[in-house]
Amino acid sequence: MAHGSGGPRGDCLILGIETSCDDTCAALVTRDGVIRANVIASQGLLHERYGGVVPEIASRQHLEVLDSVVDDTLERAGATLDDIEEVAVTRAPGLIGALLVGVSSAKALAASQRLPLTAVDHLHGHVTASMLGEDPIEPPYLVLVASGGHTFLARVDDPSEYRVLGETLDDAAGEAFDKGARLLGLGYPGGPEVDRLARDGDPTAFDFPRSQPGDGLDFSFSGLKTSLLYTLRDAPDGDRADLAASYQRAIVDALIARLEQALAQERLDRVALGGGVAANSELRERAAALDAHVWVPPLELCTDNAAMIAGAARFGRAIPYPDYFDLDAAARL
Ligand code: KG4
Ligand code: ZN
Repeated sequence: MAHGSGGPRGDCLILGIETSCDDTCAALVTRDGVIRANVIASQGLLHERYGGVVPEIASRQHLEVLDSVVDDTLERAGATLDDIEEVAVTRAPGLIGALLVGVSSAKALAASQRLPLTAVDHLHGHVTASMLGEDPIEPPYLVLVASGGHTFLARVDDPSEYRVLGETLDDAAGEAFDKGARLLGLGYPGGPEVDRLARDGDPTAFDFPRSQPGDGLDFSFSGLKTSLLYTLRDAPDGDRADLAASYQRAIVDALIARLEQALAQERLDRVALGGGVAANSELRERAAALDAHVWVPPLELCTDNAAMIAGAARFGRAIPYPDYFDLDAAARL
């Protein structure tokens, strides 16, 4: 039997597969949380012209490239299918057609090697992404996940589960960035564009609302985008960089205020950030200045990736071969 040259047999590799949205991802992670390969084939350019992810295009593209993404992952790790001891796949939540491609491929791969399969909650992946790598965060900790599809605060005491403390009642923080960018005439995805433009602007030039719905830890971002719309209508010649900086400041203020509130409420001193918005330079800076130990994973572990899925599977329950044949993807948890 041929084995990979990248590590001895017994390295116990978990193959992760993630296709919940518009990135086709595969990764190899050891039981100890060492990432041996993490491949992300972004479909960003395919969707850019539509200003958002087109579900049908996403599923077709996953189908087209997933096999080669898995091959590439094995090659980068110097491994073969024989080195894998478990397959992990995102089962929910996400675009149902996109998820189905990953789940069917994972089942076929696992079955062909008679391996166990772990069905992973995508959000559990984001929540435990900071437990990977050389300096893993250890529970108990607080985690802020802010992406294009989700924004929530959770508490982790046991890595196999998380308790949501608060979440967005409307738009996700990444969605607020994307919609704001669109109003400002910037490209998609808008977060990085706003981030870049904001560096040249005055964050106090415009006063956008910091919505804090209720006394709990929930978020709301939809009013902010409406406020930007009105500001642009009333001051069409407003400086774009000032607008971007002020708009970003309002989003980051809301996220940081809830983080501080949660830290005090939960009496925790460890925080992890996750999701694509964790790439935001102002959020990273402000989080680092909190009175807590803060873990911000590298960018490729913040945005959607399969290493976090394989990583989360370490804390999940593997379904033995062949009991997973009727496993189904689900758009919602
Ligand atoms: O986690 P992710 O890759 O995909 C989802 O699961 O949604 O997050 C994508 C989101 C997009 O809304 C994008 O605009 C945002 O993350 N984003 C950023 C930055 N980079 C990506 N938002 C603010 N600043 C950034 N630098
Ligand atoms: Zn995600």
